[in-house]
Amino acid sequence: MTDPIYKTDALIAQDIDQYLKVHEHKTMLRFITCGSVDDGKSTLIGRLLYDSKMIFEDQLAALEADSKKVGTQGQEIDFALLVDGLAAEREQGITIDVAYRFFATEKRKFIVADTPGHEQYTRNMVTGASTADLAVILIDARKGILTQTRRHSYLTHLIGIRNIVLAVNKMDLVGYDQAVFDKIVADYAAFARSIGITAFTPMPISGFKGDNITGPSANTPWYKGPALIEHLETVEVNSAADADKPFRMAVQWVNRPNLDFRGFSGQIATGSVKPGDAIRVLPSGKTSTITRIVTLNGDLDEAVAGQSVTLCFADEVDCSRGDVIAASDNPPQAADQFEATIVWMADEEMLPGRSYWLKIGTQMVTATIQQPKYQVNVNDAGGSGSHLAAKTLELNAIGVANLSTDKQIVFEPYATNRTLGGFILIDKLTNATVAAGMLHFSLRRAQNVHWQATDISRDFHAGLKNQKPAVLWFTGLSGAGKSTIANLVEKKLARMNRHTFLLDGDNVRHGLNKDLGFTDADRVENIRRVGEVAKLMTDAGLIVITAFISPFRAERDMVRQMMQPGEFIEVHIDTTLADAEARDVKGLYKKARSGQLKNFTGIDSPYEAPEDPEIRVDTAVMTAEQAADAIIARLIP
Ligand code: ADX
Repeated sequence: MTDPIYKTDALIAQDIDQYLKVHEHKTMLRFITCGSVDDGKSTLIGRLLYDSKMIFEDQLAALEADSKKVGTQGQEIDFALLVDGLAAEREQGITIDVAYRFFATEKRKFIVADTPGHEQYTRNMVTGASTADLAVILIDARKGILTQTRRHSYLTHLIGIRNIVLAVNKMDLVGYDQAVFDKIVADYAAFARSIGITAFTPMPISGFKGDNITGPSANTPWYKGPALIEHLETVEVNSAADADKPFRMAVQWVNRPNLDFRGFSGQIATGSVKPGDAIRVLPSGKTSTITRIVTLNGDLDEAVAGQSVTLCFADEVDCSRGDVIAASDNPPQAADQFEATIVWMADEEMLPGRSYWLKIGTQMVTATIQQPKYQVNVNDAGGSGSHLAAKTLELNAIGVANLSTDKQIVFEPYATNRTLGGFILIDKLTNATVAAGMLHFSLRRAQNVHWQATDISRDFHAGLKNQKPAVLWFTGLSGAGKSTIANLVEKKLARMNRHTFLLDGDNVRHGLNKDLGFTDADRVENIRRVGEVAKLMTDAGLIVITAFISPFRAERDMVRQMMQPGEFIEVHIDTTLADAEARDVKGLYKKARSGQLKNFTGIDSPYEAPEDPEIRVDTAVMTAEQAADAIIARLIP
């Protein structure tokens, strides 16, 4: 076994606070290891932890004892036990499996993200890689480049990791043969180029024997490059490269402890800043000058990428959480339509047209995604079959799609700025993160299509009709009586000289929406379009009545948000499934039960009842007439 060349130290066990103090001023490298347990990943991580003495003495004793009992390596220490012990525990969980381990040498601190390697773990790898500066891609020297090598490399590159170590492991098992190593490196170089990787650092190692881990190995005299730890200690970290880019800082919060002080706090994403620098606040575009850079340890003369600071301005400029402070002469763009790569991480598939929260830096907006242009076949990245047609994205799928946001966001392409180009999507109802994404560019059509001001306003339209526009949004199971009651309501309103229009599900599906079926994605699109039409009709001053199953809360909420406050009146026509099925006016339940009709609401497609509708009509206790009167009483008190 190699002797650790680093004298780190007993301190960690004796006095953790003192230990952390000693290591406080070192730079930090975050990296990720890619490969499966078979490639020797656990052994390698165990070895790194061991050689940097980050294992407690008692853990070490247990490890030695375990290795003798169950280890696969005879009497030698089986480093894999260190990591796999944890892996077994993790496998029982259903949440994201990324284990972060901390270790340090005399030169640097490290956080290594350890993620499982199988395909179904794409989301774990993306999570682990999102903050990494470097990736170690492990290859078993006996096997060469495998599908998973390609997948991991593609993801690593996608996430924007520019430092790649190709660790050709288990060199001891191929007799430290240079020809084997050279062949693997040449194969990898050809593949890497095809997916846009321009540089990588190849290394012949043995995690198990310790070759080229902490220092040069006598077994590979032909290898002149650095040992793994040497490389990890000296490679340039992202924040250093980011420091040369133009200045950008997303505002996390406004620091205003009293009337005399107003500063804007955040972490500098790229570039550097000094007092006296001219800055611009985006998206407003207002300019000012930096007067102070405040930190917990006093004011600074300069701050650079990676530092968390509070900036003070010379002028009273509006600036709040989510804004971006940038170099005045070189600001980022703002836009609301983009092309992006999306990595889908939720069990439920992506629904084009649904509104999700999009969080980018400290900005939070609403976004909708269009049907993907294509899905990436990660197993054939760079190959001829690398693009697949797709209508949606399922768990662990990666695709490219256009998306639009409800407000302009300040951004940069992910390739140049991970902070201002990387985003996550959040489900609005469950608050779960459902995707990670990277912005490519803004769509030029967004810049060239402007809102045209018209002289006859919506108020004017409504005034001519002498009414307040509204949307009576009926929702409920098929056969609940939505159309019947909606029809009655419209007749009664007409008698009262109200200007109305009834949009009915079956009818709209004969025209505007005749291209849509009954999958979740199609129902989302159905309601999105009907929402847009209802919106136009309220702009025209009408009272709009809609009768659609509209089974999803998310889309009903989306339409509600599109309307003026108070304008959207949700009417739940509440019938039990048993009652609707017993009536079965159109005979559809019978067909659905017999398997002739798929995706039928209430049978094999969900219905999410409103939690707090403006009006609930219980069809068991109210006639259609009574229901219509109650609805009109609510609309026109
Ligand atoms: S929604 O779910 O997208 O809002 P919509 O209200 O437009 O549905 O259309 C529902 C009507 O389509 C039903 O009343 C029924 O007549 C008909 N229909 C045909 N197939 C289905 C199905 N699989 N599920 C529900 N309704 C269906």
